[in-house]
Amino acid sequence: QQAGHVTIVEVAPRDGLQNEPRLVDTADKIRLVDLLSDCGYERIEVTSFVSPRWVPQMADAPAVMSGIRRRLGTRYAALTPNMQGFEAAIAAGADEVAIFASASETFSRKNINCSIADSIERFRPVAEAAHNRRIPLRGYVSCVVECPYEGAMAPEAVLRVAWHLADLGCYEISLGDTIGRGTPEAVDAMLSAVLGEIAASKLAGHFHDTSGRALDNIAAALDHGVRVFDAAVAGLGGCPYAPGAAGNVDTLAVNAFLLKRGFSTGLDGEKLDYAAAFARSLIGAA
Ligand code: HMG
Ligand code: MG
Repeated sequence: QQAGHVTIVEVAPRDGLQNEPRLVDTADKIRLVDLLSDCGYERIEVTSFVSPRWVPQMADAPAVMSGIRRRLGTRYAALTPNMQGFEAAIAAGADEVAIFASASETFSRKNINCSIADSIERFRPVAEAAHNRRIPLRGYVSCVVECPYEGAMAPEAVLRVAWHLADLGCYEISLGDTIGRGTPEAVDAMLSAVLGEIAASKLAGHFHDTSGRALDNIAAALDHGVRVFDAAVAGLGGCPYAPGAAGNVDTLAVNAFLLKRGFSTGLDGEKLDYAAAFARSLIGAA
């Protein structure tokens, strides 16, 4: 009995590697994306076109994005906080771009150097350019349950930012438990607020697994009808501006969890194992 389809968005090459202290070779990043492509993903987040002074690990974004092999049926995405990033991403061949905001004022300033309100205004030209060029635009909200600087977040604060991103034309809004301290109860309360204004079909869950609750949080989001989840092979990940942020939830664990519940994901388990082993070798994990 099929429970339906769930899309896993692979974010290891971006969210996984952006925080990695050791510089990973551009060729290895490209190989990782190519191995992930073989797994059959609908979407892979390849890199970020951000300031190299803010995130040195993503400085080779143009080379990575233009160096990957493109599988028919996979969309290759990148983070683009401003027009400089957007133009560079499109020039390198990004199929999809993402803007990223935060429910927390302090995190917004630490991560993208401006207030939440200013960030929405700064995203506006990116959203317009994406719309004019028919590039799918995704939005992120960080700190949807807790902020490393401000503590617990009000669900209404998440709804407000998610609403602005939807208003800018984001086809999907990924709700990020940036530091992985969410509980199913907190996720449930947050989603109840957001779903008051935004349909579940426009939402994705982005759970870091710091407290080992990411799968429980995914279960809570599934109960609310969310059918897209971000994950990273080998549980790679963290955010350089979020102290304490551990890895993203492990793709293999999410895939197994979903299959057990009767969902289809379309991913090839053996090839996932292979890509995950390569990802682990990049960060020196066993
Ligand atoms: P700023 O310093 O205010 O920007 O940073 P600026 O416009 O004043 O530019 C300063 C310098 O950066 C200039 O260089 C620009 O050219 C350069 P200079 O003239 O001084 O040599 N610059 C750029 N270079 C390359 N590409 C660009 C770009 N833009 C400016 N696109 C800015 C503002 C947003 C640029 C900066 O704060 C930044 O890059 N932040 C990115 C931080 C980041 O990537 N964080 C991690 C991703 S978010 C995340 O991980 C959370 C998520 O996973 C969800 C979750 O878990 O919650 C998505
Ligand atoms: Mg993240």
